[in-house]
Amino acid sequence: MTDFSTIYKLSLVAVTCLIQACSSSCPVLECWFVQEKAGRGGGLTAATTQEKSLLHVRTDPNRAESRHTPSDINPDRVYFVTDPAATLCHRSLNPPKGSIKKPQCEINPFLPQISSLKWVTPLTDSAFSPMYLQADWYSAALQGLNKQMGVSTIMRAPTASKENNVVLSVTSKTVSVKARLGKPVLLDCGFWVDPSSPLAGMGFAVEWRYQFRGEGRLVLAYDGKTDRLADTQEEGAMLDFEGLHTKGNASLILQEAKVRHSGTYICTVYLPFLLAQTAMELDIVEPPSLSIHPSPLPLAVPGQTLVVQCEASGFAPLSLELSWEFKGADGKTRPLETSSVTGHRQAWDGTFGQTARLELDVSKMDLGTGGELTCVAVHPGGTRRASTTLSVIGFSTPTIEDSMAMVGVALVLYGLIKFVSWTFTSSGSDQADKPDKKEK
Ligand SMILES: *[C@@H]1O[C@H](CO)[C@@H](O)[C@H](O)[C@H]1NC(C)=O
Repeated sequence: MTDFSTIYKLSLVAVTCLIQACSSSCPVLECWFVQEKAGRGGGLTAATTQEKSLLHVRTDPNRAESRHTPSDINPDRVYFVTDPAATLCHRSLNPPKGSIKKPQCEINPFLPQISSLKWVTPLTDSAFSPMYLQADWYSAALQGLNKQMGVSTIMRAPTASKENNVVLSVTSKTVSVKARLGKPVLLDCGFWVDPSSPLAGMGFAVEWRYQFRGEGRLVLAYDGKTDRLADTQEEGAMLDFEGLHTKGNASLILQEAKVRHSGTYICTVYLPFLLAQTAMELDIVEPPSLSIHPSPLPLAVPGQTLVVQCEASGFAPLSLELSWEFKGADGKTRPLETSSVTGHRQAWDGTFGQTARLELDVSKMDLGTGGELTCVAVHPGGTRRASTTLSVIGFSTPTIEDSMAMVGVALVLYGLIKFVSWTFTSSGSDQADKPDKKEK
């Protein structure tokens, strides 16, 4: 009974907490306010300044707000943000008080602009009063704890007011994705536009870019106003157009993951004069397939050196540790020293291959009658093993007595052969005049 009442009380407390948390779960975000230094424009390396800043987030502008500001923050860098979609209230952006890990946040001044990109220009070709643009604009980029979410927002504040409204948010819940080769991949990207903004309903465009080690390419670009896809070379990359228009679901679908898809993807959503983008990492991780050669292994004879190869293929990324193990009749497993590992090969599909060579000196190693020989491959995609049976005949090295016995046997054999051949030659000499077979 006491147990029950305790559970009851606890759940009551939990529910109360939950209600309180739900109604006040929007965070006060600590951000870096970063802007280019005034008067240094035109330089190749634009110098920036960085200041601590605070973003008070709420979903309803009418809610009372505690406006306490820590002393180490310039009051000019404290902003109030109204985010009706509650994107900035995601739990990953609101860690428990006193937590050491903090979400990342950066805020910058933003300048609304007309874009010259082919898939964006239709958004600004109609007559439009730019009065709305006469305001203070900011962009904020955030990353939640444990890479749960990436957010980028564009906010507008009536000039010098610090009372910001989120106009556009772009989010991704797949900040870091690992995918197996050949499987479909979903890179999540969603956007929200403030329906009360005059920019809402004027159309949007979506662009996906790929970057890897300084090289980039356009994966896909879609002009949502004229419903047109830009020409791209990328095969098997798709958007869900219905979800895009009805729910702001701009997720990219790669039908079949390939090694060359590993890299950074940037989802950019354009509204007239505005853009927000969020980046994510895709890693194609495929563990190796293993095979042992020769297969099956020949019988090992003492004194012989047996060469065994373990071939790992079809893996990515290029990060592999190959080793050998031997499990004897006693059931104990011990490592064997690998003789050499080849350099890597790359196959047509971008996957890698590598071979480990084992030179087994059958008489030196204590292999008993044999056992199980295993090749172990440790890879970020998982550990793989391949085994084969090793059988050793005459499993001990010959002792002196054995050698003597062998010499004895050899002598007896020699005598026997000598005797047989003598009998044969003496009986066969009668037909010595037979024609030589080699002639015919
Ligand atoms: C977005 O669309 C993709 C593809 O149809 C779907 O798998 C995904 O669940 C959608 N995301 C959301 C948040 O609806």
